[in-house]
Amino acid sequence: VTISDGSSRVTAVLPTGESVEILLYGATVLSWKDASGDEKLWLSEGAKLDGTKAVRGGIPLVFPVFGTAPDHEATSKLPQHGFARNSRWEFLGKSSNESSSNSVKLDFGLSSENLDEAARQLWPYKFGLLYSVTLAPESLSTVLVITNEGDVPFECQTLLHTYFKIKDISSVQVTGLEDSPFHDKVDGVKDKTQSSDPITFSGETDRVYTPVKGPGHPVVITDGGVAKFRVVRDNLDDVVVWNPWVDKSAGMGDFQPKDGWKNMVCVEAGAVSTWQKLEKGDAFEGAQTIYLN
Ligand code: BG6
Repeated sequence: VTISDGSSRVTAVLPTGESVEILLYGATVLSWKDASGDEKLWLSEGAKLDGTKAVRGGIPLVFPVFGTAPDHEATSKLPQHGFARNSRWEFLGKSSNESSSNSVKLDFGLSSENLDEAARQLWPYKFGLLYSVTLAPESLSTVLVITNEGDVPFECQTLLHTYFKIKDISSVQVTGLEDSPFHDKVDGVKDKTQSSDPITFSGETDRVYTPVKGPGHPVVITDGGVAKFRVVRDNLDDVVVWNPWVDKSAGMGDFQPKDGWKNMVCVEAGAVSTWQKLEKGDAFEGAQTIYLN
């Protein structure tokens, strides 16, 4: 296992050739490649990687609010998707498991003490985040542990905003969410139900699903008839499916190339339809493992 810990990025390469690269800003996974060097995540060519804006692509981390929550007083002042993706995290180190599976785990931390003054003012709770990224030959796991380190309870949401790289959105299907209730953020209707067919894409899509089959049941992304990614969730009850299509992409300054929406789909595992309440000393752990099919 090769680790390079530059000042702003951490990369790890397995002996078999797979690699992962994480930007300390946001602890954003920027790249995940298989043994043949094939990239699995979509990253905008216009993404800002200098800490001036959340990264457009890879796996940004959403915490402590999904979207904005004007009606939730404690988080109402926070920017869209919270501050975790806009904060510089600490690299806590790596552990490898060379005997069994040749995997490497990279740990990152963010706590209230690391926040800049502006973010601390907007959300004055004492928290700790521990984020572990584990690269194995056929999978990538991301685990987030949230702890309440203060005396005051807080409520939070979290989500792993994964941008998957795909060949052609018009031939992508997402399975595993059949018959599930969802909130359609495009037209604002909250109580729709997915048919018993897989999800296909023919326009802007922005949906928050609460899968009926539960976290252990995989959500599979099929690209041109081939199953490419299998997402298994742990303690993350919701799945957001997002593709901005033509107009929304045009409106995002950091979205490049402009027709890049054809080559990406976000399938985002999270706990976002309700609030996780953490009392003093409580912890919440949520995770996903993405398997290459
Ligand atoms: C998705 C939301 O999770 O993130 C969308 O459901 C949103 O509504 C998208 O547009 C991207 O958000 P942002 O803040 O990174 O532009």
